[in-house]
Amino acid sequence: MFQSDLMNGRTILLTGGGTGLGRSMAMRFAELGANIFLVARREEPLKETAGAIRTKGAKAGYALADVRDFEAVEKAVDAAEKEFGAVDTLVNNAAGNFIARTEKLTPTAFTAVVGIVLQGTFNFTLSLGRKWIAAKTPGNVLNIVTTYAAADCGSGFVVPSSCAKAGVLSMTRSLAVEWAKHHIRLNAIAPGPFPTEGAWSRLMPSTEMQEKAKKHHPMGRFGRHDELADLAVYLLSKQADYVNGECVVIDGGLWLRGAGEFNDYLDVPDAAWEMMESARRK
Ligand code: HXC
Ligand code: NAP
Repeated sequence: MFQSDLMNGRTILLTGGGTGLGRSMAMRFAELGANIFLVARREEPLKETAGAIRTKGAKAGYALADVRDFEAVEKAVDAAEKEFGAVDTLVNNAAGNFIARTEKLTPTAFTAVVGIVLQGTFNFTLSLGRKWIAAKTPGNVLNIVTTYAAADCGSGFVVPSSCAKAGVLSMTRSLAVEWAKHHIRLNAIAPGPFPTEGAWSRLMPSTEMQEKAKKHHPMGRFGRHDELADLAVYLLSKQADYVNGECVVIDGGLWLRGAGEFNDYLDVPDAAWEMMESARRK
């Protein structure tokens, strides 16, 4: 689908790039020629992913930082620049989330998730955005949100995440306009369910829940990481230069299923349809 040198000469900083979807995007960007710089809190996954990228012949580095801490964020950006010269692309992928009844949450629990998702995204965007503007060089930002933010519907039981992701989407659209004159482009991807250890352990911990979710899905399956990684490549590519402030949903039609009043008729078996149809004909 893409030329193998599509991302040659690019340097991409990914937050949360050592695990899950961040890792899959990093591997794909590297395969297409980009230099990769990963940032997260735990060293082991970062080291492993950077190693896997280098094994494939691309360049990778990493720094440890909590995205909530602006000073640590600035140090991570400095480290990336030291390693690769300059960073031209930012993927805000790090997130925190868990399922909980909202009335049982503490204010600290809300702050933890909003801090990682919303403040963390702002911290990296601010740090790199200022540099791009000062240096008069173009920049490219991709924010990973969720369908409950993109569809403006929110979601029960993940209220801190829902509030934070909606904020990230608003930031994406606001800055797409404000920073367009600086040749900085911002877009978002809203993924549906993609199996990862981080998300599944916190949001869909039992096989029973996973099977139920799959059964409810119009396509009967979860997303594949390569499907999301290729969408990210497109949005970051030069070919998407006129796409700005957009949020692309990639969920196989799942949120639309929830939106349509009669969509649960999907569960009606053919035999029941035939009975209804023959009753109508009488
Ligand atoms: C209620 C919880 C909780 C839970 C933590 N807290 N887990 N409250 N239910 N399950 C509370 C704690 O009690 C504490 O409040 C506060 O949150 C902070 O907890 P810490 O463990 O000290 O925070 P921290 O170390 O910063 O960890 C952040 C985290 C953690 C979000 C809580 O889960 C994390 O590090 N997650 C990162 C990875 C992740 O979440 N990946 C999934 C992304 S998936 P008190 O008051 O007790 O001190 C995703 C997909 C969405 O976003 C869509 C799917 C389809
Ligand atoms: P994941 O593997 O748990 O990814 C989250 C990453 O964020 C981890 O690598 C984690 O690394 C990092 N992170 C968390 N808190 C951090 C902090 N304070 N500072 C720095 N890094 C931090 O989960 P995932 O499923 O791949 O999620 C990736 C993105 O996709 C997230 O934005 C998520 O909201 C979004 N998403 C996922 C799904 C899905 O179905 N999987 C659906 C919709 C949206 P450390 O713990 O080492 O810091």
